Amino acid sequence: MSSSERRRLSVALVDVTPGREKDFDRLSTAFEALLIAKNYGRAEMIPDEVMPQRFYAVHQWHDADAAERCHADPDAQAMTTQLYRIARIIQVVNGVRTPDPMRRFLEDRRARVEADRRTGFERRKRGAGSPTVSERRSRRDRRVGPRRLRDRPAPVDLVAAARRARQFADAAYSNFQVGAALEAVDGTVVTGCNIENATYGLTICAERVAMFKALSEGLRAFTRIAIVADTEAPTPPCGACRQILWEFGGNLEIQLANLQAETGRHQLRDLLPLPFDARLLL
Ligand code: THU
Repeated sequence: MSSSERRRLSVALVDVTPGREKDFDRLSTAFEALLIAKNYGRAEMIPDEVMPQRFYAVHQWHDADAAERCHADPDAQAMTTQLYRIARIIQVVNGVRTPDPMRRFLEDRRARVEADRRTGFERRKRGAGSPTVSERRSRRDRRVGPRRLRDRPAPVDLVAAARRARQFADAAYSNFQVGAALEAVDGTVVTGCNIENATYGLTICAERVAMFKALSEGLRAFTRIAIVADTEAPTPPCGACRQILWEFGGNLEIQLANLQAETGRHQLRDLLPLPFDARLLL
């Protein structure tokens, strides 16, 4: 077995207690250093770009054995105990197979919300063959070591991106032009516009164009989508788009805007109550 086959990955969702960000930064940096010093593997703390207190703690253990040794290490345990005091930690993905990782999700109400957000993505990611977020990041940025809080990128103006995309709308029949901009967890923004067809029925909305473009480029996890139309009242996504966005993006944040201003902000969960999704097929 090659070393990359033996490597084990775990990703935890971490919600830092407000006001404890500095302690969290210090502790997670120390924990990352310990992993390297004791040759257990590597860790990286990736900030969520939507929720300011949320981080994705990505651990890459050299192998399952290194993960076990680290969990049993009193120094590591002391650090994680301290971390638990200033942050809520929810395990999301564990590369070491467990009999039913989904069950653990469902036992925790907070985790269930996250499971919603990632429905679809979770189901597919095993066979997706696309690089993980940390792999993608390391290709772009070969720096060894954690991503610090101060590295948090400036928030992207998704609405501006959607307004630009709207200019390419091909709405010859309705003359109703729509633009969308979808943000992936690694910060990539993929845009779309509506494209109509003389059959009418083959028309495709801006949101689905953006989502399908993103999926076709290997992106698999998303945070927000902005939708822009030239209407005074908010233009929300149609039913078909809500279903597709839920399937691949989970509980996205939806920013609605016209050419002048933002007109609304929603969670997809609220726009698609009682969704039909992969969980019903299990
Ligand atoms: N449309 C979108 O692209 N997104 C929406 O959220 C609503 C509707 C498009 C489809 C069609 O080309 C035109 O707007 C009129 O329905």
